[in-house]
Amino acid sequence: MNFMEKSNPIGIFDSGIGGLTVVKQIANFLPNENLIYFGDTARVPYGTKSNSTVIEYAIQDTKFLLEKNVKMIIVACNTVSSVAIEHLRKEFKIPIIGMIDPGSEAALRATKNKRIGVIGTNATINNKAYSSRLKELDENLLIFEKACPLFVPLAEEGWLDHNATRLVAEEYLRELTESKIDTLILGCTHYPILSETIRNVAGKVKLIDSGIAAAKLVEQYLEGRGLKNTSHQLGYHEYYVSDIPQKFKDIAERFLGNKIDNVHKVDLEKLMNYSVKSE
Ligand code: DGL
Repeated sequence: MNFMEKSNPIGIFDSGIGGLTVVKQIANFLPNENLIYFGDTARVPYGTKSNSTVIEYAIQDTKFLLEKNVKMIIVACNTVSSVAIEHLRKEFKIPIIGMIDPGSEAALRATKNKRIGVIGTNATINNKAYSSRLKELDENLLIFEKACPLFVPLAEEGWLDHNATRLVAEEYLRELTESKIDTLILGCTHYPILSETIRNVAGKVKLIDSGIAAAKLVEQYLEGRGLKNTSHQLGYHEYYVSDIPQKFKDIAERFLGNKIDNVHKVDLEKLMNYSVKSE
């Protein structure tokens, strides 16, 4: 397998639809890149599962994308980025970009009062991935974290501007806004899907979408290695999911603002059969 072809696609995976927030940014910054997306919609959420389960799923997801000859992998899932990225980097030689570094760096650039909020899944918050990275970047930062697990099913359900979503957001974000944060990291790729509601409830704080920061990093990375696709044509985007393609398609079209017609179903049994051992 040759990872180093410019025209090879970029592989992106998430536990479900959340990684579409990263696809949207990559499509903006790098319109000529070909993308292969995998959303593990049969097994979402990852954020409530144990670290060992998340690592196992992440290895399977990566192996699925490697079969598609991707030139790099974007882990468009903060939970996997928090829990499993070092395992993936040890296991696979391919370049792997996660969400934590770009999101943390963007938050550091954005904050004026050094009070940063982080919201994410239970796994991301419990693993303290963002707070550790932020403290490494600047030990004077004050970090306020909150797990918001209900945002994931609300986003998966497509309840983007629903009253229930607003009530849940009010409950989750109260403590953070009372802590006088000026910057809030959306530390879960599903959350930018709900960003309008989050913005309305959080008020005057700068929202950090790690996907935007990651897309910029991917561009730098590809340019630096001469791997940016030099084609003048728009890249193709192919989607794979482990459950109900139609449901994914409906939400994806609503979120991306364009039609997608190439959503394929991946056999979960085949996915589970990928060996967890080194290749
Ligand atoms: N997209 C995942 C993340 O960024 C959240 C969904 C899940 O719990 O699997 O953490």
